[in-house]
Amino acid sequence: MSKSGAFDLASGVGGKIEKKQVQSAVDQYEKYHVYFGGDEETRKTNYSDMVNKYYDLATSFYEFGWGESFHFAPRWKGESLRESIKRHEHFLALQLGLKSGMKVLDVGCGIGGPLREIARFSSTSITGLNNNDYQISRAIELSRVAGLSEPCNFVKADFMNMPLPDNTFDAIYAIEATCHAPDALGCYKEIYRVLKPGQCFAAYEWCVTDHFDPQNESHQKTKAEIELGNGLPDIRSTSQCIDALKLAGFEVIWEKDLAIDSPVSWYLPLDTTRFSITSFRLTTFGRAVTRTMVKALEFLKLAPAGSDRVSSFLEKAAEGLVEGGRKEIFTPMFFFLARKPVSDS
Ligand SMILES: C[S@@+](CC[C@H](N)C(=O)[O-])C[C@H]1O[C@@H](n2cnc3c(N)ncnc32)[C@H](O)[C@@H]1O
Repeated sequence: MSKSGAFDLASGVGGKIEKKQVQSAVDQYEKYHVYFGGDEETRKTNYSDMVNKYYDLATSFYEFGWGESFHFAPRWKGESLRESIKRHEHFLALQLGLKSGMKVLDVGCGIGGPLREIARFSSTSITGLNNNDYQISRAIELSRVAGLSEPCNFVKADFMNMPLPDNTFDAIYAIEATCHAPDALGCYKEIYRVLKPGQCFAAYEWCVTDHFDPQNESHQKTKAEIELGNGLPDIRSTSQCIDALKLAGFEVIWEKDLAIDSPVSWYLPLDTTRFSITSFRLTTFGRAVTRTMVKALEFLKLAPAGSDRVSSFLEKAAEGLVEGGRKEIFTPMFFFLARKPVSDS
């Protein structure tokens, strides 16, 4: 069943972490980040612990605010947020030429919102791979309720080391997930290994753009906010992603930052200057209401201690994302389509 009520949010905070351990998990998570004295090297070495803590703590907030698909989308005027999210998923399916009978892998599948939509849209069988136990349990339950247990299945595993045979899939995609990898090359090599020769991998990557200046303090502050609020070890540039794809052995067919031509900015749902009834929970006012509600539920012991701190670092994420989008130094939709050559020679 969909878990989008206030009590679902409260009871889900912490995911598979024991409720009395949530506060200390928040402490440990925060300490990984620059804001709390952490550094990139420690985040990279401990990426599995850092990312899993993040998703245990944040998933019920995501489900409450975004629904079942945890990603942004370029948007046309007059299009709702939900419509744009689905269209962004359909775009990937079309780029990969998905057709009935194909075996597809979704790398970092969240709770399976995109996977269910793409399976319905393209009549394919899709395996969702995800390293977070809590999200996998939500993905299995939501797929069962949607009547999609047959074409959709899930594997709990790390995308840096997949327990899957070589040359298995007819297509692979990743939506705003491989940004969590401690090293893009290692992750793309694994994807290359499990993809059949001649077949394609498409992704939406989170990247800093060419406007990002590492010497600029305010750019670095925005980057650190995005890392803290989103469980990221680092944020790569678009060219680092393309170089890593090529080094892994892929031919890059085309790539583009889809944020550039989007008539409605992707960060608009989080922007302080905007109000929307249909995505009220994402607006500044909606987020303030959620924060007050979480505080009250924590006070009443209906939400675990530490819940309010989770909503606070998610608030930092929203601020960083809007800043990154406005300054055009960050994009969550650097798209690429890449092919594994038929022969390695
Ligand atoms: C922002 S969410 C996107 C989820 C999904 N693609 C969507 O759009 O709804 C990123 C996902 O990547 C997964 N992830 C992060 N690091 C991972 C790893 N090392 N191995 C497998 N999955 C990972 C997270 O657990 C989470 O499900």
